[in-house]
Amino acid sequence: MHENLENRYRERIWENHVAEDFERDVLSGLRAAQKSIPSKYLYDALGSALFEAIVLLPEYDLPRREIALLKRYAATIVATVGGPPRLLELGSGSSEKTHLLIEAAIERYDTVRYTAVDISLGAIRAAAVQLLERYPQIAVDALVGDYFQVLADVPRQPRTLALFLGSNLGNYPGRRGCELLRAIYVALTPHDLLLLGVDLRKNRETMERAYNDPIGVTAAFSKNVLARVNRELGTEIAVDNFRHVAIFDDSTGNIEAYLIAERAASYAMGNGRGAVGFAEGERIHIESSHKFTREEIRSLAADSGFEERMFMPDDDAGFALALLERRDDG
Ligand code: AVJ
Repeated sequence: MHENLENRYRERIWENHVAEDFERDVLSGLRAAQKSIPSKYLYDALGSALFEAIVLLPEYDLPRREIALLKRYAATIVATVGGPPRLLELGSGSSEKTHLLIEAAIERYDTVRYTAVDISLGAIRAAAVQLLERYPQIAVDALVGDYFQVLADVPRQPRTLALFLGSNLGNYPGRRGCELLRAIYVALTPHDLLLLGVDLRKNRETMERAYNDPIGVTAAFSKNVLARVNRELGTEIAVDNFRHVAIFDDSTGNIEAYLIAERAASYAMGNGRGAVGFAEGERIHIESSHKFTREEIRSLAADSGFEERMFMPDDDAGFALALLERRDDG
């Protein structure tokens, strides 16, 4: 990084556990009665690149909807902070959408601190260089690691506006979502704000089409997690024996993504780890993407110590921004 950028940039990496966790999580997931692989492992370098392609799919319109809402409300949201904010973003990725809030903050207060949290070091560095070059008024902290790990350690700072965009909260269904919001609560000071971008429940066809695109980018994104297992653990899973499918489950309100074994097979796990067998049609759960209702957001907020300040759905209520305020302790 350029020397004149370096004094506005700090980086911290939590890497102590990643490799061992991957092996343990994958092996226990594939040996379970209902097979699964945690969705956070979808985002290695190739998976992150495939996700950047997903956001360009016309069927996957969440990002366009969210950007339109951010354009409409960025100035209002930033004004609500009441002073120069520290933006604290979870899952910052390319930080593309964050530019809208950063610009609004600079416009109003002349200065902004940006703390980006992501599991991809490459993504976070590339995003930081862009921001530092573009905005002389910005200082960037890059925190690389698992959300829960990082949130437990991140210094608190008044007037923080935490950001959890892209309906990423939907990947933490049920109690997990509440736990994550609680971890955010702990990293904030009273009256700090949390901006959520959430995909809303709508008709089944629209929701399922977004995760079963006709050119197979989403299928490649899903299958990459198995290819990653082969690459990093030395296993011999025939990735082409698996078919991607994503279905909306009415009982959970989740789009559930699976890889389904076309034929029965047994695959060596390498390194004396034995084998994993698949029956024909047996599936591996890859990802849950929750689709929210307004009421769910309200009760999720209340259960984790937040109060809803603003709820901003788009015109056909397909996607919403929710601005929450952290309550006082106690
Ligand atoms: C980035 C987790 C919000 O669940 O909609 C997109 C990931 N998976 N297409 C989502 C994803 C398949 C996405 N999130």
